[in-house]
Parts: sequence; C-alpha cells; structure tokens
Amino acid sequence: MSGAKPGRLQGKVVLITGAARGIGLAMAALFAGEGAQVVLTDIRDREGEDAARALGTQARYLHLDVRLEPDWDAAVADVLAREQRLDVLVNNAGITGFEDGLRPHDPEHTSLDDWRSVMATNLDGVFLGCRAGIAAMRQTGTGSIINLSSRSGIVGMPGAAAYAASKAGVRNHTKTVALYCAAQGLSIRCNSIHPAAILTPMWEAVLGDGPDRETRARAFVKDAPLQRFGTPDEVAHLALHLASDESAYTTGAEFTIDGGLLAGTFNLPDVSPDSSQ
Ligand SMILES: NC(=O)c1ccc[n+]([C@@H]2O[C@H](COP(=O)([O-])OP(=O)(O)OC[C@H]3O[C@@H](n4cnc5c(N)ncnc54)[C@H](O)[C@@H]3O)[C@@H](O)[C@H]2O)c1
Repeated sequence: MSGAKPGRLQGKVVLITGAARGIGLAMAALFAGEGAQVVLTDIRDREGEDAARALGTQARYLHLDVRLEPDWDAAVADVLAREQRLDVLVNNAGITGFEDGLRPHDPEHTSLDDWRSVMATNLDGVFLGCRAGIAAMRQTGTGSIINLSSRSGIVGMPGAAAYAASKAGVRNHTKTVALYCAAQGLSIRCNSIHPAAILTPMWEAVLGDGPDRETRARAFVKDAPLQRFGTPDEVAHLALHLASDESAYTTGAEFTIDGGLLAGTFNLPDVSPDSSQ
C-alpha cells in the first residue's frame, strides 16, 4: 500500500474553459496533479491538444467555443458520457478586445461590434457555462462553479469599457447563480475570482515586444503595492481552494488576487515619525 496522501481534488471531474494557455492551463496542471480528471477546453485546438497530452492520463482536450450554445451542449454531453459526472466548472475563457489590434475601447469611441464581441465571450460565455454546469451538476446535486471575473469587474476602466462591464456582469451573475442553486436545495456553489496583472499571453498585445516592453510592464504594475505581475500559478492555487471541498461553506463570494491593488492607495500625506523632521 502506498503512503501517498490523496490529492485535494482526488476523483473530481473538472471542465475548464480557455485552458490552452495562461491561467486556464495553470489550473489544469495544478488540478490534475491534485488527482482531478481534467477536461481542458478552448478554441486553440492545437495548443489545447498539446497541453492535455503533456498532462498525461489525468487530462484530455475538447473543442468548446464558449459563445456557442451547441458547443456547450456537445461538451457537457461528452463529459457526462465519458466521465459520468461534472464536479467542477471553471469559466475561465476571456478576451480583452485588444487581441486583433489596439482600437479605442473607451466609453466614447468603442464600436458596437467591439463591445458585443467582448460581451459574447466574457459574459454570454459565462452565462451559458453556468447554465450548462448547473444542469450537469444536478445529477449529483453538488459541485463548484468558479467564474473568472477581474479587478476591472469591481472598479471602472476607462480604456477597456466593454471588458470592465462584462467582468462586472460576471461578478454579479456569480452571486445570482449561487443564490439560485442554494434556493433550489442544491450544494452547487458559485464564486468569482478577481485577478489583476497576471502575466499571461493575454498581455502580449498591450506589452508588445519592442524596446519599451520593460518600461510598459513596469508602468502597468506601478500602482500595485506588491510592485510586480502575479503568476498564473498563484491564481490556480486560489482556484484550487474553491474547487475543493475545503471551501464547502463558501458561495456567492468574490476573491481578489491583485498584489494589493484594490486594498487602497499609497497616495496619502506621509505621516511617518521621520516625515516631521
Ligand atoms: N491575465 C490577467 O492579468 C487577468 C486579469 C484579470 C482577469 N483575467 C481573466 O482571467 C481569464 C484568463 O485570462 P488569461 O490571462 O489566462 O488569458 P489568455 O489570453 O492567456 O488565455 C485565455 C484563453 O481563452 C481562450 N478563449 C478566448 N476566446 C474563447 C472562446 N470564445 N471560447 C473558448 N476559449 C476562448 C483563448 O484561446 C485562450 O487560450 C480571462 O477571463 C481573463 O479576463 C486575467
């Protein structure tokens, strides 16, 4: 008999959207290492297939465009047929709107097409995911849904209006889902994670690869008390707690992971003892 401790997600079936890279991939790797059977999904099929293969027998890949109802139906049917259950759903897929080039995304100049495109992935995708997840988890009456919102879902963002509004929608819908499930007598929990400045490929479009990359990177984190980007793995560890039964009493809650950005500001008069001399 082996003396190895069971993983924190031993035997759980997890579906993660947008898992071909970035935060989704870090969660997939961590969860698989904790004993979960992980279904990575994305629209980047080659990267997703490669990532799942690298994780071994604990993982497989499925194509799932979160904007499309038929994709959700097919993916959840596939999971219920093969893994027989769904315990954890992570609605992680998201876009900033800058992926295809830097166009204006402020409240005055955002085009309706750009606004709708961001909403379709970030907000419609989470709505469809929660709907499909609740239906699948009803089979056991238990589960954990984790929605990736953002710091921008809590405060405004003049340069990324659609992104901020979509993430605010995710924040609020998370609480609605949590209350709905509880009222239905289901032990299906739903919580949101609010990261800021996590260094993933999402940042490539705005950081660029020119000589100013470092300067731009420093500027993006200068207001964060911890003065650095966070890592996908740090977000994955927070998600691990929410995915596991350790968080069984936690629902409708929001968790910031932002290097202290939302804690307040340093911009106050200096009242330290040295400052009066
Ligand atoms: N990185 C950050 O600083 C940060 C901050 C706040 C919130 N977030 C949120 O965390 C989540 C993950 O972000 P990331 O930084 O890892 O981004 P990323 O761009 O590195 O990865 C996002 C993944 O989502 C996939 N995706 C995009 N559209 C999709 C669709 N329609 N259907 C399925 N998959 C799709 C992409 O192919 C990609 O693999 C997003 O929801 C993002 O908004 C990230």
